[in-house]
Amino acid sequence: MTDNRTEFDAKAAESGAGATAAFAAKQKAAIDVPQERVSAIAKDVLTGLFEVINKHQVTYAEYDALKAWLIKVGEDGEWPLFLDVWVEHEVEQVNTAHRQGSKGTIEGPYYVPNAPEQGANGSLPMRDDEPGQKMNFTGQVTSTDGSALGGAVVELWQADANGFYSQYAPGLPEWNLRGTFTTDDQGRFDIAGLQPAPYQIPTDGACGQLIAAAGWHSWRPAHLHLKVSAPGHELLTAQLYFPGDPHNEDDIASAVKPELMLNPQPQPDGTNKVEYDFVLDPAQA
Ligand SMILES: [Fe+2]
Repeated sequence: MTDNRTEFDAKAAESGAGATAAFAAKQKAAIDVPQERVSAIAKDVLTGLFEVINKHQVTYAEYDALKAWLIKVGEDGEWPLFLDVWVEHEVEQVNTAHRQGSKGTIEGPYYVPNAPEQGANGSLPMRDDEPGQKMNFTGQVTSTDGSALGGAVVELWQADANGFYSQYAPGLPEWNLRGTFTTDDQGRFDIAGLQPAPYQIPTDGACGQLIAAAGWHSWRPAHLHLKVSAPGHELLTAQLYFPGDPHNEDDIASAVKPELMLNPQPQPDGTNKVEYDFVLDPAQA
């Protein structure tokens, strides 16, 4: 069936449902967490919740509002969105604190593996009339000992100028603004891409309801998403940001770090040039 709708018809529910289905497919089997650990973590989560209930003297009306909202998060398929926007940053922090190499940040809900391979010097797949500032993105992937990592894989994905990710909004080519690049023998890559725009997370579902009810904003600063990997090294999941974005300081996903800032340089041909090197930690024994 041909989907004739445009991305402007995108609704949070289908974006959410897509993210939920993608996550379910990835999570083929439940991971085996020891019973004692499940018990310890679940108890502490509940204890934390009891503290909040006591601190704020939560009423029955508020408790019922919470119940209704939690049901709606599931109905809208927004658990991946909710968790990745408001919780993942803390998990990422805990799991990468030991690293000596490049800082990473959250993955978010819209990663898709196996984007088209474009080589070391390639173009990010995009439409002929893709709106946005052209950007040339170069860099090198090395190990923490300084050695170049040839054959490292750099996966790049980003939203379009309207804030939509391919495969999570109708009307976009399947791999729009998603590409896989493999570094040359010096560990270098050179990508003809696009400077992303800031966007709002979907606001017409349960997450938007929370944002409106709390009087928050829904903006993420402009960012590239990346996964950088090489044999024998830890996978680096990162996002890169742009100076001057009004939401670098109050990103709704709390994912911005000063180490992840790019520095675009306008070129005579009208493109912007950015350079960023990735340093991967050797895999832990
Ligand atoms: Fe994003």
